[in-house]
This record gives sequence, structure tokens and C-alpha cells, in this order.
Amino acid sequence: MGILRRAHIWVLYAFVAYVAFLVSLIYEPVQRGLIYLHGIRIPFGADFSRPESVGFAPGKVLPFRLTTPDGATLGAWHVLPVEAYEAALDKYGVPAEGHLPEAVFDAALRNSSYPTVLYNHGNAGTRAAGNRVRVARHMSALNANFVIYDYRGFADSSRDPPPSEEGLLTDARAAWDWLTKEKGVDEGRISVMGQSLGTGVSAGLVGRLADEGNFIPILSPLRNFPWLLDALLQLLKTRFDTKHIIEKIASPILILHAQNDPVIPFSHSRVLADVLINPLLAESGPLEKDKARGKLVRETQAGGWGVVSSFERGEGKGRVVWAEAREGAHNEIGTSEYSIELIKQMVHGEVIRT
Ligand SMILES: *[C@@H]1O[C@H](CO)[C@@H](O)[C@H](O)[C@H]1NC(C)=O
Repeated sequence: MGILRRAHIWVLYAFVAYVAFLVSLIYEPVQRGLIYLHGIRIPFGADFSRPESVGFAPGKVLPFRLTTPDGATLGAWHVLPVEAYEAALDKYGVPAEGHLPEAVFDAALRNSSYPTVLYNHGNAGTRAAGNRVRVARHMSALNANFVIYDYRGFADSSRDPPPSEEGLLTDARAAWDWLTKEKGVDEGRISVMGQSLGTGVSAGLVGRLADEGNFIPILSPLRNFPWLLDALLQLLKTRFDTKHIIEKIASPILILHAQNDPVIPFSHSRVLADVLINPLLAESGPLEKDKARGKLVRETQAGGWGVVSSFERGEGKGRVVWAEAREGAHNEIGTSEYSIELIKQMVHGEVIRT
């Protein structure tokens, strides 16, 4: 009897804790903490003023700060393209401390030989996290400028105002404006790249730019909301609606997703591809859809790596390439060698070979 009673009490405790959890989700600071996970400042104790501490070559990264119109200040890094770095070493030598002269970084942004990648990272962690640093090094190696920043509330960025959907889009816009207005980077030479939650930020930024009549490429190793279930999502006030924005994007799109992604169901990238394909099939009757789709979409097996599909959207919007890798999981899909090859062609403005 005593045991049964205790068991009942335990069940009751668990139930109360569960209800408390559900109720707490309605409370905004809790939602925020769960969606953005900005309290998890991995790697712990990172020195953002010394990027060499996470593996960058001496002086190759310029730490700087961005300010937003609503009063946030964001920690950011600009990583030089490898050729610009080596040329600067010939001229100035390896800096004894700090970074190479700022003029080197400005010149690299203005040099039409070098494209620029603006990176919106996923939730949790900071720009010093391992997979983000690996992406940065790959982008430098393919001779692109790489700009990465931490959203409000993250890393060494200001804590107030706290992260929100609108806030993150404001942060991304501040980085875009810094590149195009302050540094004079040609819009056509910028690729916007995001991972996980950062894909939602990227699509949101590029969608708004498209509304203003801009045309720029986006790279999207797929979408937001890593581990929250769809049912919970209904409860949450913050959501990045990539599905309804992606159609607006009027520039080439590369979507990378790994079949073994444990966080975001693989079906999500197919839904995004369908959103882009369906308007192109609208003309054909219902029975013809499969046939029309087969004619429009080119699907190629990429050896042991995965499958790459592509189609043209017409009206000057360019191509959509969506690649499904067999491996890469959630965080390393963007660093697999063939992903980098596809990204390289995209960043350098080439038509991706599929
Ligand atoms: C731009 O980059 C190219 C390739 O590295 C280099 O040859 C050229 O000197 C650079 N131009 C300027 C103005 O720095």
C-alpha cells in the first residue's frame, strides 16, 4: 500500500512538472531561452578578441562590432580570403600581436576577385563554435571573405534587447548594411548563408531584400527549430517561416540537408523544394504533374555522397539546387567536402554543375 501510494505521488509530481513545463513555455523568457539557447555559450570562456585561440591563423581575422538601429551591439569577425592573407603576409609579415592592418580587410571586401559570404549561425553556442570555425576556414580557402556575427543575447553581443524573430532579422540587416553601405561591397558579390535557425534568418533577410528589389544568392543548409516538435511550435510565438518566404527569393538557392539529420526531419527540405517547384507546375493538369515534375527537375546520383536535384525557376530568378547528403547530420553537412564544392560554385557565381 505504502509503495503504491508513493508511486502515485511520483506520477503526480511528474504530471505537475510536465504541466508546469507546458505553462512555462507560454512565458516569453522561457520560450526565448528554449528557442535560441543563447545561454549556452559554447565554447566556454572563448576569447573573441583573439580568434587564433580557436584555430585561425595569426592576424587573419578582424574582430569588430556592429550596431543596430534599436541599440544592440554585436560581436563579429571578418575572416580574410586566403590569397589576400598571404599577399598581406608578404607585405607586412606575420603580425606580432593583434590583426593585420584594417586597410587589408577593407581592400579584400572591395576586391572584385573575392566574393563575400555573410553567415547567420544556428541557435546555441557562439561564432567560436567548432563547426562554425570550420565553415569559416573552408570559405577562406575558397577565396571568399567570411563575415560572421553573434545575434543579440549571444556570446559577447549586448544582452538587451533580448533575442526575438524581429531582433535577429534586425541584426542580420545590420550586418548586410555594414557590408553594402559602410564597406561598399557590391550586393551581387554577397552570398547569404545560414545553418539551422540561421536558415530562417537568411531567408527572412533575403526575402525582405527581394521585397525591396534586390537580387542576391542565398545558401541554405536548411531550416530552423532544431529539436522542438511541431505541436510545441504551435505554442510558440516566435517562428521563422522559411516556407512562406522562400518563394519570394528571386536569386539562385542552394539547399543542403543530410538524410541522417537527427534534429530537423529530412522531409522539411523536400517541402521547401516543393514550394518552389509547385508554381512552375501550375499549368499542367493534376494527372500531368508527375510527368511535368520529371521534365523540370534533374536528379543526379553523386556517387556515395548522395543525390543532387536542380531546376530552373525562370524569370531571371536562377536555379535551385537541393542536395541530399547521406551523412553530415545537423552540424557538419556544411563542412562535407562535396558540400563545400557546391557552395564554392555558388559563391563564385558559377552555375552549379550537377
Ligand atoms: C585583388 O585580388 C587579386 C587576386 O588575389 C590580386 O591579384 C589583386 O592585386 C587584388 N587587387 C587589389 C586592388 O588589391
